[in-house]
Amino acid sequence: MLFYYFYLLISFCTVQPTQDVNCPAGFYTQAELKPHLERPPQDPTAPGADGRVFTKDHMTPEEQKEKEEGMTRHCFNQFASDRISLSRSLGDDTRPPECVERKFRRCPPLPDTSVIIVFHNEAWSTLLRTVYSVLHTSPAVLLKEIILVDDASTAEHLKTKLEEYVLQLKIVRIVRQKERKGLITARLLGASIAQGEILTFLDAHCECFHGWLEPLLARIVEEPTAVVSPEITTIDLNTFHFNKPVSTNRAYNRGNFDWSLTFGWEAIPEDARKLRKDETYPVKTPTFAGGLFSVSKKYFEHIGTYDDKMEIWGGENVEMSFRVWQCGGQLEILPCSVVGHVFRTKSPHTFPKGTEVITRNQVRLAEVWMGEYKNIFYRRNKVAADMAKENKYGDISDRVELRERLHCKNFTWFLNTIYPEIFIPDLTPEKFGAIRNSGSQKCLDVGESNQGGKPVIMYQCHNMGGNQYFEYTSHKELRHNIGKQLCLQASPEPEPVKIELCQLKGKGTSLSPQQEWENLLKNPSSGKCLQLKGSEIQMCHCNSADIFQHWSFS
Ligand SMILES: *[C@@H]1O[C@H](CO)[C@@H](O)[C@H](O)[C@H]1NC(C)=O
Repeated sequence: MLFYYFYLLISFCTVQPTQDVNCPAGFYTQAELKPHLERPPQDPTAPGADGRVFTKDHMTPEEQKEKEEGMTRHCFNQFASDRISLSRSLGDDTRPPECVERKFRRCPPLPDTSVIIVFHNEAWSTLLRTVYSVLHTSPAVLLKEIILVDDASTAEHLKTKLEEYVLQLKIVRIVRQKERKGLITARLLGASIAQGEILTFLDAHCECFHGWLEPLLARIVEEPTAVVSPEITTIDLNTFHFNKPVSTNRAYNRGNFDWSLTFGWEAIPEDARKLRKDETYPVKTPTFAGGLFSVSKKYFEHIGTYDDKMEIWGGENVEMSFRVWQCGGQLEILPCSVVGHVFRTKSPHTFPKGTEVITRNQVRLAEVWMGEYKNIFYRRNKVAADMAKENKYGDISDRVELRERLHCKNFTWFLNTIYPEIFIPDLTPEKFGAIRNSGSQKCLDVGESNQGGKPVIMYQCHNMGGNQYFEYTSHKELRHNIGKQLCLQASPEPEPVKIELCQLKGKGTSLSPQQEWENLLKNPSSGKCLQLKGSEIQMCHCNSADIFQHWSFS
């Protein structure tokens, strides 16, 4: 009873925060938000200073060799990184004025955070520049600690040398995963020992821009179920140029996914853009990249952290996205918070058990979160479909139990409410698979990296989905829609037949006559039939006796 009254008293007091002695009114001053470590004076003419490009005109053969070796080891220009100050400044604060001038209320106080950075054989300079960048930009009162989690690195410089070096940085700790188990378990290890109220995950080759941390923490105070990401900007992998934010005409991107469950980026819809009153408003995002984000530790645990039976990495960001939204949270990008990241075009690390672990992770997330929509994914990925059929994705009962315990909403709700712009393929297409030509016994194939606009080709039937996947839709289109929505389009003879973006995109759009097909495979608007002619695929006069006009789904 006593506690109850006490509680009431407190809650009445918090209605008027100005009267709470522990939490003075007004806004944090700059002095109160002083960074943990002041940036030492930087030489503005030094290579890469202020986030500029690293340039070097003449290289000796030794330097050339060093550069190439670094590139092979890390898939970024380690040679450049090693010659840029670990404490380099990023120059002026170029964010929009609302971001630069924004003040943060003292009451309720901003929570502190543990920054968790997972690394595996990372270069010394990129790892340490990430650490220094956090120390130079995060207010001391908000930065509890930096936890470096080693995912079983073998490089010598990341052992005793690193341990001795970070001792002087006081609040930096190292924990190690003995066996290479990947990002997911490494992050869970970091989170399990974190003492901050908020967990902030970063990659090991990042640089934080002015004022990146406060908006993330302030948003979580406002909305404790928010999982928030900074706007991620590029640090060029060759020059280490930091792509600074611009203050006007910014492009707002959000995360999406396609039906191969691959994460991607897209511009936010026009109406969402209009609803933004100013730059400090969060951008809701259906999915997140998952490398860089903050979440309340309590909420992270409530929502089921990660699926700890997922391996290495891949799919965990999509899993967490679906889970957060379906179970009552929100996923947001805060454009006032900017962090640079070295995006690589390929990974220097091997998958200890092969890339099939990604597929396995995706099957796990599809089984738990996607309901019947999982079949849309399986139709496009034979390996995943087989894995699901043969129950080869491990036990998911914990995750199903979590979904039920939290009364999470279903995937239909997610698609309709959170991502209504997505194109949803037929749940049960009339026909799907590879389209075989009776004359050649080969299959229709979109060829390598055909994003639309290129002719289709014939190729040995491989029955793996992928480039040979088509489905005959209820609108009579032949869609190749794993990533983009692409449709087989009739063309005037003798032009080769191509795939193009589908004209039917959802409400308010209509089927293009060139994209309509009946009876494998006639285009009614031209009255012509698809025919294999030599090695070309063209539209010709229909002739049912010609086996090069016979096509069938297999
Ligand atoms: C999904 O949830 C909605 C309510 O949000 C409900 O109407 C619908 O029947 C559910 N669908 C399935 C397949 O359970």
